[in-house]
Amino acid sequence: MPKNSGFEDTLPLRLFNRRHFLKAAGSAAVLPVVLRGHAAQSSGASANNRINLGVIGMGWQGTGNTQSFLPSEDCQVVAACDIDANHLKAALKMINDNYGNEDCKGYHDYRELLARDDIDAVMIAVPDHWHEIVSTEAARRKKDIYGEKPLAHTIAEQQSIVRAVQQNRIIWQMGSWQRSVPTFHKAAEIVRNGLIGTVTHVEVGLPGGNSDFDDVGKEALAKLAAQGVNAASLEQVVPGTKAWNLLVTDPPPELDYNTWIGPAKMEPYMRARSHKSWRWNYNTGAGELLDWIGHHCDIAHWGLDFDNSGPSEVEGSGELPPANAVWNTAPKYRFELKYPQGVTMTIAGGHPDIKGGVKWIGSEGWVWVDRGGFEASNPAWKQGKYLPRELRKVKLYTSSNHQQNFLDCVRTRQSTVTPVEVGHHSAIPGHLCLISMLTGKKIRWDAKEEKIVGDAEASKLTTREYRAPWKMS
Ligand SMILES: NC(=O)c1ccc[n+]([C@@H]2O[C@H](COP(=O)([O-])OP(=O)(O)OC[C@H]3O[C@@H](n4cnc5c(N)ncnc54)[C@H](O)[C@@H]3O)[C@@H](O)[C@H]2O)c1
Repeated sequence: MPKNSGFEDTLPLRLFNRRHFLKAAGSAAVLPVVLRGHAAQSSGASANNRINLGVIGMGWQGTGNTQSFLPSEDCQVVAACDIDANHLKAALKMINDNYGNEDCKGYHDYRELLARDDIDAVMIAVPDHWHEIVSTEAARRKKDIYGEKPLAHTIAEQQSIVRAVQQNRIIWQMGSWQRSVPTFHKAAEIVRNGLIGTVTHVEVGLPGGNSDFDDVGKEALAKLAAQGVNAASLEQVVPGTKAWNLLVTDPPPELDYNTWIGPAKMEPYMRARSHKSWRWNYNTGAGELLDWIGHHCDIAHWGLDFDNSGPSEVEGSGELPPANAVWNTAPKYRFELKYPQGVTMTIAGGHPDIKGGVKWIGSEGWVWVDRGGFEASNPAWKQGKYLPRELRKVKLYTSSNHQQNFLDCVRTRQSTVTPVEVGHHSAIPGHLCLISMLTGKKIRWDAKEEKIVGDAEASKLTTREYRAPWKMS
């Protein structure tokens, strides 16, 4: 495990409070940022002192994020990067069609995009196993970052990103966009204002199953069936079998697969393990648990005022497929966590008694929220987008547009609604649950020191080996 102790001479990973942040950022905190842009020289649209934005990883979420940035008058997407030539081509077409010009430049290598001095900020939506390398390089290049959840593939990688963001004084917005949605804001404010009394327990309901995006699993099983090989699911297909051999193919010519695998362990190419479905193998992702922890645990922490805190004990289990299966992430899992102030939390996926979303249970009531759903012990709280002014003694940061909030903060140098430290703490419980499931042990966590206590085996899982030549920064 890389030494946490190395942090002592740097800034603590704890959440910057606003005063700390403003002090760190100096007088720039209240002045509009002077964009680096040489934009005025290159395009008419950029002459308006727009934020020059580069976008990296133009698959599913990268495309969605970029679509949200394109209408904004505050930014100009000047560069796009992907290692899949088809994804890059589609991205460039989308961006250039939007502006009615050919100015957005395409890149295969993110380092070339990041080396451009005229780029102020970047949106990064590469798969999780790439987050640390791309994000720390972007921070080193002083680019402000809109980065995707979960913050990274391991706790050590998350710590590395937090350090890079803090040292380089850049703005970070975590893609945990639920913080910019009024129902989640209202639910969290109800809890923070004590309207349900003292919180005793929280249920964080995540999806179960390994979702079959684009039917790649279905197609793989159909391919096997056509060859007379029956497999009930990709969680059952392991190396050395006919089924496995049939699923291994050459990578498609448009994909630079060696780079795509990047710092992860080299494995033979399979469509069902690449775009989007990388989530269902621990080599590159970590199942629904880590895919969703940065959404619902993030909201749970917001309501609890635990953005700068974490659990002390984590214990649970899941239905793990064989470790070498095509899809080896647990489709069903359940964990119990102990937090400060006597709060307990259940995090579960695939267990119908734990409803999707977040439910806080207090001494005087409860509130539950999910995408498109809101229920509470007091039906009056259902009224209105936000909590009524008179009940808002504690006012949470209000953002109604996650991408715009990032752009605003790039200009003002103030903290976004979801800064990097928040993303870090929101994902840590997911990593600890995973470690508990993989080791079969109760994990004791020192949230202040950010260390697993008294368990060398479990501690090893807070980091991983990088495949050469890639190195963790
Ligand atoms: N905030 C949300 O609601 C949300 C939703 C979905 C995904 N995500 C997150 O977004 C990230 C991407 O997920 P996705 O579903 O879009 O995956 P995806 O597989 O659809 O897209 C990833 C893209 O990154 C490209 N890529 C991979 N390595 C690269 C590299 N080194 N340089 C440049 N491009 C590279 C791939 O070719 C692909 O086009 C993940 O971290 C995921 O957790 C967030």
